[in-house]
Formats: sequence, C-alpha cells, structure tokens
Amino acid sequence: MKKGDCIELFIDGTAFKGKGVGRFEERAVFVKGAMPGDRVSARIIKKKKNFLEAKLLEILSPSSDRISPLCSHAGVCGGCSWQHVPYPKQLEFKRQQVEDHITRIGKCSTPVDDIIGCPTPLYYRNKMEYSFSPRRWLTEQEIRSEEFVDDAGFAAGLHAPGRFDKILDLKECHLQHPISYQILDHVRRFALERDIPAYDTFNKEGFFRHLVIRKSHYTNDLMVVLVSYYEDMNLINTLLESLKQSFPEITTFIYSINDTPSPTAYGRIEHVLLGPGYIRDSIGEFTFNIHPKAFFQTNTQQAEALYEVALKFANLQPDDLVYDLYCGVGTLSLYLSKVATKVVGIELVEEAIENAKKNAQENEINHAYFVKGDMKDTFNETLIAEYGVPTVLVTDPPRAGMHPDVVQQLLDLKTPRIVYVSCDSSTMARDIEKLSSLYKVDAIQPVDMFPQTYHIETVALLTLK
Ligand SMILES: C[S@@+](CC[C@H](N)C(=O)[O-])C[C@H]1O[C@@H](n2cnc3c(N)ncnc32)[C@H](O)[C@@H]1O
Repeated sequence: MKKGDCIELFIDGTAFKGKGVGRFEERAVFVKGAMPGDRVSARIIKKKKNFLEAKLLEILSPSSDRISPLCSHAGVCGGCSWQHVPYPKQLEFKRQQVEDHITRIGKCSTPVDDIIGCPTPLYYRNKMEYSFSPRRWLTEQEIRSEEFVDDAGFAAGLHAPGRFDKILDLKECHLQHPISYQILDHVRRFALERDIPAYDTFNKEGFFRHLVIRKSHYTNDLMVVLVSYYEDMNLINTLLESLKQSFPEITTFIYSINDTPSPTAYGRIEHVLLGPGYIRDSIGEFTFNIHPKAFFQTNTQQAEALYEVALKFANLQPDDLVYDLYCGVGTLSLYLSKVATKVVGIELVEEAIENAKKNAQENEINHAYFVKGDMKDTFNETLIAEYGVPTVLVTDPPRAGMHPDVVQQLLDLKTPRIVYVSCDSSTMARDIEKLSSLYKVDAIQPVDMFPQTYHIETVALLTLK
C-alpha cells in the first residue's frame, strides 16, 4: 500500500483534530470528515510507520448517528467540523479524547469525569474574527465542476482549514449571534459596490484585512473592529455611517490599521470612532471591560461553568494565596478572589494586564495583583519574594501548554494544589506527565466551551504527593 492508493475502511473512533479513525492492515488511519460508524472509501495522503492519513472520498455506508448539518458550509469551513455529529455524541467523543490523552501521553489512570455540556450548542461565541481576501476558497464541488469557476474577486469570511491566503466566502454562520454575520455581509456589499479590494497577502496590496465582532452575552454591548492595510479615514467614516444606520446596536467601533505583513487581526494603529473602545460582559457576579486585543473566554455562559469547576478544585480557604498563571484580563483571578486572601495574576499582554487592574478596581477587589511578563522569565524567585509563596496555583496556558522552565518552577515550588485549566488536553497531558514525579492527579473534568468543533476545555486537579 502506498501514497495515492484508495482504501475502504470502517471508522470506529475519533482522534486528533476531530478526525475519524479506523484500521487498515494493522495500521491506524485518520480520515478528516469521517465519524464513528461510517464505512468510507479514502485516498492515502500520508504514510508513516505507525499510521496513515487518508482523504475522505465517499461515505459508503453512513453511521446511524450522522445528522444533516445546519450550515451549508459544513465540511468545507474550518469553523465547525462536527455539525454532522449529534451534540450528545460530540460530548461523548470529546470526553474519550481527553481520556486518550491523559492515559497515553500523561501516563495517568485517573478517571475522566463526564463532560459538562453547553446549554446552547449554537450561537454561543462572543467573538468572531473574519478575514478578507481576493482569493476565494473553492469547494470540492466547484473544483470538480465542468464549468469555469473564478476564484478571484473578494471573499469575506473564515480561513479555509490550514490556509493563510484563501478565504471561504461565508453565506451564513451559526457560531455567533446572527447580527455578526449580517455585519460581515454589510461590509462585503459595501466593498463590492465601491470596488474596494481585499488585502492580498502575496502582493501586499488592497484595503480590507479583518473584521472582528465581539458581542457581549450579558450586556447589550456590540464591538466592531475593522482592520485595513492602509489608512483611509473618509472611506471608513462612510462605512461607519452606513453601519450605524443598519445596525444601531453597535456600541463601539474601532478602526485599526495593520500596515505590516503580520496576519494578526489587530493593527498597529487604532482609532476609536464610536463608543468607549471596549465592551463589558459578566462572568458570575463580576463584570469585565474587554479591550479588542485582550483575551476573553469566547463562550461567556460556559466560562462560568468552567470557573466554578476551577473554584471547586482549588478548594480555597480564606488564608490561601493564589497565583493565577496566564491570567488574561483577570477574569478567573477575580473569581478566585471571592475566597482567597490574595491573588496574583501573571500575563504577557500589556493591555490585558491594564484591563485586569481596572477590572479589579471596578469590581472593588483590592486583594488581586497583576504582573505583566512572559511566564518563563517573570514567574521566578524575585516575584515570589515580592508577592509571597503560593498555597494554591491555577494555570491556564495557551494551547502550546507551559514552557518547560515554568513546569520546572512548579516542581521547585511544590505548591500543595495546582488547578490546571487547558484548552488542549494533549499538551496538558504532557505537562502532567512531567509533574507526576511530585504530583498525583485527583480529578479531571472536561467542560464543553466549543460545541460543533473538536476543541475541548479540561480542568485537572493536581495535589502534592
Ligand atoms: C487560555 S488564555 C487564559 C486566560 C484567562 N485565564 C481566562 O480564563 O480568561 C491564555 C493567556 O495566556 C497569555 N499568554 C500566552 N503566552 C504567554 C506567556 N508566554 N507568558 C504569559 N502569558 C502568556 C495569553 O495572552 C492569554 O491571555
């Protein structure tokens, strides 16, 4: 069997990035778009010693669990990859995925609790980052079509999976409140009517780059951030006027210019053209200011469920000194401050730290302290000498997990309890394995923050042996 061969196989599990997994001639085969119970034909696209990767060609006999996706872009768009999977099954697969990582990578036998599902599996996101491109992503159907299909022009939507240059021209999206897609459509029509080009990553020309929409869950705040390659204030003022007319719900509009090749959805220069330049949203009893650059849990409602688990695992006593590593705008820190005597949050992004300090002040919390810095350099003896030795540690790193120096610092510190919050259970399992010489894992609780996608949030409680 070699690359390019077509095979038939039965899918009996799910794996990394939500791919279906089956076996062919004793080897695991990963097939994107397939789900357990499907019998499929697929073409081998990668051949490794222990596994194969194959491209789904046809579902020969569908799983009895398959459902019709709600969205016409399902299967093509990188936003939702599991719309064909009923929600209870998504939860089952996610829990299994955490268990696989914990046992295989973490070498840990602690049982994984049933995942906490999201009460609203659609329209749950508070933030969408759309992009513009002159290169439209073509669907398989369009490519196979006999007729000429033009991929040039103006595409507004989400990146095609794994592509930095091609954009899927969205006609609908069910992850955020419908107004989000309507605003995107408005900007697309505005650009097309005036023939204003999208930014071209290869030729470094064109105007429209990104549109970021943040909609608060608990307040009526609605933020629109428009990012262009060069500044054209007249044009943007015209766009803003038309947006205000069609969407009086917009409470703040930020115009940002990214004149660098960097694809970040936030520019170097910022003009707040409407409202305060941030939105406010709540988690539990706390209300937060959210700056466009700052991280905020994208599923506000489930963030509360997640923080409740973290708080329960932390089992805080009034005299506890808690460190909240990778604290963002201090949301979890404030949550923990309900019980702890002192909370110290550490975070890389300057604006997030400024927001965190302001958030503490506005929520009348005066025993939370925030420090800006890269964790591996900042979380050290000098900092601990200044703020005190932690009795409980909460860590919520980005997907890559913790830097080895940070893990070493945890091993040196020997804090009695560590609550590890993670959006990638494979890197969490890797870090748990490194900590296992001193720590045992008492509980593992997955929480579904991202329905319709394969992403999973997990909280683990580690206690010093
Ligand atoms: C998953 S978020 C967690 C935020 C927060 N705990 C919350 O619930 O909103 C990870 C945070 O880590 C920050 N971060 C990423 N790399 C970092 C580093 N090297 N040092 C410190 N913070 C970092 C990011 O800016 C982001 O705010």
